[in-house]
Amino acid sequence: MTLAELARAAEGIWAQWAEAARNLQSLEELEALRVQILGRKGRLTQLFSALRELPPSEKAEAGRILNTLKERIEAALAEKKEALAQRERLERLARERYDLSLPGKWRPLGKLHPLTQVRLEIEEIFLRLGFDVATGPEIETEYYNFEALNIGPDHPARDEWDSFYLGEGVLLRTHTSPVQIRVMKERKPPVRIICPGRCFRRDNPDATHSPVFHQVELLWVEKGLTFAHLKWVIGEFVRAFFGPNYEMRFSADFFPFTEPSAQVHIRKKGTEKWLEIMGAGMVHPRVLEEVGYDPEEVTGFAFGLGIERMAMLRYGIEDIRLFWQNDLRFLSQF
Ligand code: PHE
Repeated sequence: MTLAELARAAEGIWAQWAEAARNLQSLEELEALRVQILGRKGRLTQLFSALRELPPSEKAEAGRILNTLKERIEAALAEKKEALAQRERLERLARERYDLSLPGKWRPLGKLHPLTQVRLEIEEIFLRLGFDVATGPEIETEYYNFEALNIGPDHPARDEWDSFYLGEGVLLRTHTSPVQIRVMKERKPPVRIICPGRCFRRDNPDATHSPVFHQVELLWVEKGLTFAHLKWVIGEFVRAFFGPNYEMRFSADFFPFTEPSAQVHIRKKGTEKWLEIMGAGMVHPRVLEEVGYDPEEVTGFAFGLGIERMAMLRYGIEDIRLFWQNDLRFLSQF
């Protein structure tokens, strides 16, 4: 090869580059072209090898020609590469643009069960009043469920809490009152707790009965507590839970673990019907003694309400069984 041939070949390479560069569509095509020219077996690389065949006097000139060409192509390649990359970026952005006008996909959202919502709301009300939440076992002994609550073995009131027995002296708790006993045995007064939980009675299911249901127990034991404090606490609860348009009424009742005992009713102002919301009373001195408290020293009061009943009154639900049927048409309303 002569110097003239080499110079012509170099021009040919430039022409090839210029021609191909005009039609390049992608970075892959650009890379393929780069390999064709500058790769290990590329045209320009081969031309560099041809330098060896030239007489020494021409090598410097030939080297200058090839190096200049190489620099030009490399600079042009870099420029082209940037341009193509920019174009691809813009195309991708256009392709991936979010269409904010497209209607979204509807995904049904889960919710807390209405009984859970009501329980949390009741807890919240009493937490604000300074009560702790305490819990106890659903499987209880006769001692905690009955005896410690002043309900002896032959007490006729045992019939009221018709129980599921699991074995001798062991049963599913019929109310949350045994938690009172457990907590008082563990703590010294003052005690201020509410105990939400599941309870079990041998009731046949109908619109107002369910063998499994929920209660919230309240207990406050401290020096100097009177029935007036009980009334105040219940009044606060009724106002917070049902709103200001309700009035309440206490009437005499009987529970072996409270003395005196009362039944609490509420009524929407301006309407006729009184609705029972809970049983309540001053903790019986014998119960206080049983847990090691001195009834001369401290007094206390308690109440027990049904969560299902609160939810039914609040939402006008007529059948307690709806809570267990897991019918989304019912549940999704809350
Ligand atoms: N444990 C009672 C019941 O289940 C309710 C109650 C609790 C009454 C506390 C008075 C005081 O019927």
